[in-house]
Amino acid sequence: MSCICFIGGGNMASAIIGGLYKRVPKGTGQSSIRVAEPLKAARTQLEARFPVETFADGKQAIEGADTIILAVKPQIIPQVLEQIGSKIQPGQLIISIAAGTTCETIENELHRETAVVRAMPNLPAVVDAGITGLYANPHCRQKDKDRAKEILSAVGQVIWIDKENLMDAVTAVSGTGPAYVFYLVEAMRDAGVAAGLSTETATELALYTVIGSGQLALSEPADVAELRQRVTSPGGTTAAAVAVLDGAGCDEILRQAVIAARDRGRELSRTAL
Ligand SMILES: NC(=O)c1ccc[n+]([C@@H]2O[C@H](COP(=O)([O-])OP(=O)(O)OC[C@H]3O[C@@H](n4cnc5c(N)ncnc54)[C@H](OP(=O)(O)O)[C@@H]3O)[C@@H](O)[C@H]2O)c1
Repeated sequence: MSCICFIGGGNMASAIIGGLYKRVPKGTGQSSIRVAEPLKAARTQLEARFPVETFADGKQAIEGADTIILAVKPQIIPQVLEQIGSKIQPGQLIISIAAGTTCETIENELHRETAVVRAMPNLPAVVDAGITGLYANPHCRQKDKDRAKEILSAVGQVIWIDKENLMDAVTAVSGTGPAYVFYLVEAMRDAGVAAGLSTETATELALYTVIGSGQLALSEPADVAELRQRVTSPGGTTAAAVAVLDGAGCDEILRQAVIAARDRGRELSRTAL
């Protein structure tokens, strides 16, 4: 039986662990899962939620694990690698979900070449509807890539990125993306309320519109730009709304927002260590 060891048992680790247990019912050969987490209360909570083994000490936790998932904040990564680095064995795959931390940074901290997969999941992973961008460094074998894909697929879709420097763009589009969608829903809800709807009704209308439009776009071969054209009859209500969005330069504003997120990601990866 394979063994996955999470270093850090916070929100994202819990989402992935939950997804892994949901996908493979208990007793049908799932991986054993360990979690290294410094806080006793957090360890107790994890053990109450999942059949995992928890450890206060990362070095002990990674012993014999096939895969080590670094699920701590980026600024904690150097400290973690210092703690566990000497115990990492050749053949153990490292998956890092720390935003902005490069494979090179991890290898430098470990003072050797190591198979590292960088993963950028997003918040909908909590409901198994995430999307994760994955990058494998050149030391990864096919079986390492398959393993990373299998693990992250437990919380949604995965997509391979072939150049590591594009991971900041992934962070800016899908990692940060849920905030853009919440922003849109918030604005649609508030506008609905201003137009006389109750908050509950306006929220439901806005949320289901986002979910349904996403599902429709996924099921259609047509590009989203074409779908938008299709619902915009000349002189109609949608055309009136889109004219306002275009007039305010909303597409350019969104472009700038995504670029700002990408640049901030780059900045953080430079200052992480
Ligand atoms: N949440 C997201 O939507 C999202 C999306 C994409 C990527 N990420 C990335 O995922 C990583 C984790 O994010 P998160 O939201 O899960 O953060 P989080 O909830 O703060 O989880 C991090 C956990 O690691 C623990 N920890 C701290 N130092 C440790 C150590 N030396 N050894 C073991 N565990 C340690 C923390 O414990 P304490 O609380 O006691 O410090 C905390 O429980 C981050 O790097 C983030 O960039 C998150």
